[in-house]
Amino acid sequence: MQLNHTLHPLTIVSQQSDAATTYADFAKDITNGLNQTPKKLSSRWFYDAKGSKLFQQIMDMPEYYLTRCEFDLLNEHKQAMASQFGKEGFFHLIDLGAGDAMKTKVLIRELTATGQNFEYVPVDISVDAMQELTEDLHEEMPAVLAQAVVGEYFDALKWLQENKSARKVVLFLGSNVGNFETQESINFLKSIRSYLQPGDKLLLGADLRKDPETIIDAYNDAAGITAEFNLNLLERMNRELGANFNLQAFQHYALYDPQEGVMKSYLVSRTDQQVDIHATGQSYTFKAWEAIHTESSHKYTLQQIQELGKVCGFNTETVFMEKNQYFADVLFTVD
Ligand code: TRP
Repeated sequence: MQLNHTLHPLTIVSQQSDAATTYADFAKDITNGLNQTPKKLSSRWFYDAKGSKLFQQIMDMPEYYLTRCEFDLLNEHKQAMASQFGKEGFFHLIDLGAGDAMKTKVLIRELTATGQNFEYVPVDISVDAMQELTEDLHEEMPAVLAQAVVGEYFDALKWLQENKSARKVVLFLGSNVGNFETQESINFLKSIRSYLQPGDKLLLGADLRKDPETIIDAYNDAAGITAEFNLNLLERMNRELGANFNLQAFQHYALYDPQEGVMKSYLVSRTDQQVDIHATGQSYTFKAWEAIHTESSHKYTLQQIQELGKVCGFNTETVFMEKNQYFADVLFTVD
């Protein structure tokens, strides 16, 4: 479907599932997770309206260095990035999970200021976010050629493969790759690779190994916003699935394994208790101090992130590091 817009078109290749489907998926997914030993809940359910607001607050906290570091990194290295992206002429700049493009705009401005010939293609599952971004770009940078694509990443990449034939530079910014389990991250990057051609590039964000205290603090802030964010998962089940989690009887717990380089977040039951979920008719018992795993965030060595790219068919062109070496954006090429 093509929605007309004066300058910037918006294409919908797949839709966010409707409320009924989301509800059914949510019920099914949490049932699957809570029936496992040890129990887990998928992090994909964090971002309802309340969770998204809390995550905005997390990104503004002094302890959560990730977003700021990548923003600084992009500002520090934008000249080099822009010239490396553009040195072979026209390209499509494909921004996976663009959102409000707060970080990507640093690159777009630089590319525009240096007269690079490109088309910006933000991709996101949220129609609203892509509509807003389209309007925002139209106002703020009317000269930038842009075409938003609404859909799942791989539906969008398939559409791009069929409809955008020029060279591609794919951005997967943030630390999202780190939220996959290792095998999932390999599958994900191999899929991206399968939609690319020799000469195309991938800029991949990765949070790096650092002082474990710095990492722990980012996932266990003093103001307790991360705790609230994690506990919102239980609250969401109460709200949407008629569960009866007593929020006072669970606590947020964050643990960093410096050998594995994995930050793990849990919700821990403070007491023996039973929880009923009305929508599924299921009940779950929790032993005192039993934990539910809610998210893993991988922290990489430079060697690991390059190795990950390599096994997925990418070669490292340049490693861009934030000045404190907290965060890296690695530019990969395909040949
Ligand atoms: N996925 C993000 C990250 O790994 C979001 C996040 C921040 C998060 N703090 C959290 C997820 C605490 C779960 C629990 O950085």
